Amino acid sequence: REQRQKSLFEVMELATKFFEQNLASRIGAQARGYLSDRAIISSSTVEFRIGYATADRFALKEYLGSQGVPVADMIEAGLLVAGDDIPVPYDRFRDRIIIPIHDQRGRVVGFGGRALKKDVQPKYLNSPETSIFHKGSIVFNFHRARQPAHEANSVVAVEGYMDAIAVYQAGIKAVVATMGTAFTEEQIATLWRLSPEPVVCFDSDRAGVAAAYRSVDRILPLLRVGKTFRFVFMDEQKDPDDLIREKGVEAFRSVLSGSLPLWDVLWQRETDGQDVRTPDKQAALEQKLYTLVRTIQDPAVNTAFFRTSRTQLANLFWQVNRGPTR
Ligand code: UTP
Ligand code: MN
Ligand code: MN
Ligand code: MN
Ligand code: MN
Repeated sequence: REQRQKSLFEVMELATKFFEQNLASRIGAQARGYLSDRAIISSSTVEFRIGYATADRFALKEYLGSQGVPVADMIEAGLLVAGDDIPVPYDRFRDRIIIPIHDQRGRVVGFGGRALKKDVQPKYLNSPETSIFHKGSIVFNFHRARQPAHEANSVVAVEGYMDAIAVYQAGIKAVVATMGTAFTEEQIATLWRLSPEPVVCFDSDRAGVAAAYRSVDRILPLLRVGKTFRFVFMDEQKDPDDLIREKGVEAFRSVLSGSLPLWDVLWQRETDGQDVRTPDKQAALEQKLYTLVRTIQDPAVNTAFFRTSRTQLANLFWQVNRGPTR
């Protein structure tokens, strides 16, 4: 079993090199144009090992075959589309920019494939779960961000591959990406290995805000003394990559400096726009907030959050109770 997993890492390494060579060669001209249009410089392409999968349905399969890789291993590595209803397995990634996804030890375990053209669905096609690729436990760019994060005692967590690449390329190297979903428990623990207070900067669209809010709920039970998160909500610009391209890295740094503590995000989410002018509405808010705070396992953090909740609720209700109730 251990032997087999080793060989899957080798298969992924061979595939990575194949995609890199495609991008560098004549068939990669359009893909290189795409990357340069997105302001990804060639040193980033090399460092992130970005590649290109051609539209050919069997290019990778034939290449890996020529290197002695059995088709069964290609399927196990998630590189081919296969199944009972598919007579001839074929390349999963076609006509896509290929972004290798590494594990914490820096080994390629999966790929994110971005469509070159605008209307292609899905926009990103990722490797399926395999014995070496568990999306929920991966934090993209962890192995490159580790040292810079320790030096800066901070890390920024963004949503997308391209955001992480853009932020890193702009000189903020302590950056990782969660790959478009709310945090898993494993990702939270992994982020805390990089910094005691990671700064989350998801997209400003609805999906990004929803993912940030869901992340808050996932973090609460895991909070410990000295381990928390901050959050940044960008207005106007869609994501960190867009912001840096349009307004430069200093604009992004200034966004980061406006980060909010996790408590503020929780409080604002629960109270913004809430009508709490009557006692029954106040009771509903109080119950909702306490239900969330009750999920905090750590006794000291739990106590402090309850104390803060009581104080802020009292302040809020005192203010509204001074006004008319209807
Ligand atoms: P976004 O839709 O915000 O993409 O998804 P993006 O990173 O800004 O992509 P560009 O700039 O248009 O290229 C954020 C992340 O969600 C995951 C990817 O990890 C992506 O980076 N995602 C998104 C998928 O896995 N599949 C999708 O179809 C879309
Ligand atoms: Mn495993
Ligand atoms: Mn988005
Ligand atoms: Mn985005
Ligand atoms: Mn983007």
